[in-house]
Amino acid sequence: MHIELNEEQKLLREEVRRFAEEVVRPIAKEIDAKGVFPVDTIRQAAEMGLTGVSVPEEYGGAGMDVVSYCLVIEEISRVCASTGVILSVNNSLVCDPLLKWANEEQKRSFLKPLAAGEKLGCFALTEPGAGSDAASLRTTARRDGDDYVLDGNKVFITNGTNADIALVFATVDPALGYKGITAFIVPADTPGYSHGIHEYKLGVNASGTTELAFESMRVPASQRVGEEGDGFRIAMSTLDGGRIGIAAQAVGIAQGAFEEALKYSQEREQFGTAISSFQAIQHYLADMATELDAGRLLTWKAAWAKENRKRFTLEAAQAKLFASEMAQHVTNKALQIHGGYGYIREYNVERYFRDARITEIYEGTSEIQKMVIADWVLNKS
Ligand code: CAA
Repeated sequence: MHIELNEEQKLLREEVRRFAEEVVRPIAKEIDAKGVFPVDTIRQAAEMGLTGVSVPEEYGGAGMDVVSYCLVIEEISRVCASTGVILSVNNSLVCDPLLKWANEEQKRSFLKPLAAGEKLGCFALTEPGAGSDAASLRTTARRDGDDYVLDGNKVFITNGTNADIALVFATVDPALGYKGITAFIVPADTPGYSHGIHEYKLGVNASGTTELAFESMRVPASQRVGEEGDGFRIAMSTLDGGRIGIAAQAVGIAQGAFEEALKYSQEREQFGTAISSFQAIQHYLADMATELDAGRLLTWKAAWAKENRKRFTLEAAQAKLFASEMAQHVTNKALQIHGGYGYIREYNVERYFRDARITEIYEGTSEIQKMVIADWVLNKS
């Protein structure tokens, strides 16, 4: 088994790290504190191909592999988790399903500008009463001639304040359960579409999270993705890919916190010596470095599975579960190594600590990942 990045991937990592250091890091603290969506950063990321990393060039993307995509999300999240998740949602939750499920006309009209970063996408699945139980969503899509009329509300929509295009999930008949769920591509300027105010959150505070409301919103049937009833399968298979992106984000957050802690431990002196000379701190650093490698390897394994297999549900859930929990431990220890300084806003480590928390919740909680993993090991392996 060969676990090494190829030359192209190494170059990409260097290039994205440079961009992250020069463009993303200088504003990361401020956009988090103020809850400002980094419009200009995303425009610059688009110029580098980071809005459609694994989308073929003919559809506006960079045509790279899934491990490369993970490197992009890790490197950006290493300095700013908000920017990481904005890109992750556009790549994995919007471009990816359109590449897989949209027809040629839809790809030309919607995927191309999304992958090229001319437009930004959001993924509208979650509702006030349908979070982990996604199949219980209540947004309706009533067929009326050549259109569908959508009514309902979505919550916690990452990119929602700034998205130009939403991938919306609605049911054509609630009595059908998940078999009624249908996916639609909806431009944000469609009459009846509106978004709420920016939600201030514990972490990833610049990612434009908001509610969406659809009131008698007319969507042409030509903007339906797949057939009626395909929506749940589209959402679930999309989230398999999305979870790899969140695993990469968690690895990036943990890496950023680890580097801060490593540096601080060598600079900070107590009892007449650098605190890195104490065994207690060394054990923390040893655990952090080891857990980080394990999380990164599981993430790359899931990325490899996505590249090479039809189903990678198990690998994606394992990577997301482990990497997100690892990010809690690593950021917590990074803060501990900083002592009191870790608790104040001047130091980045408290931001990493706050940002890590959501990776255990969005795109399926840890409890949902365990359900998925248990189902595979008990029934599907
Ligand atoms: N790929 C393809 N098909 C899948 C699938 C997958 N990964 N998972 C399930 N399906 C199919 C099943 O095969 C089944 O179809 P058939 O009957 O034809 O075989 C159908 O979907 C129903 O499957 P289940 O009975 O397993 O469905 P369920 O209702 O029990 O739900 C669940 C399963 C795993 C709990 C699912 O609801 C789930 O993943 N919940 C979490 C939702 C989630 O992750 N939300 C995140 C919101 S988006 C977000 O967070 C974005 C952001 O802001 C960053």
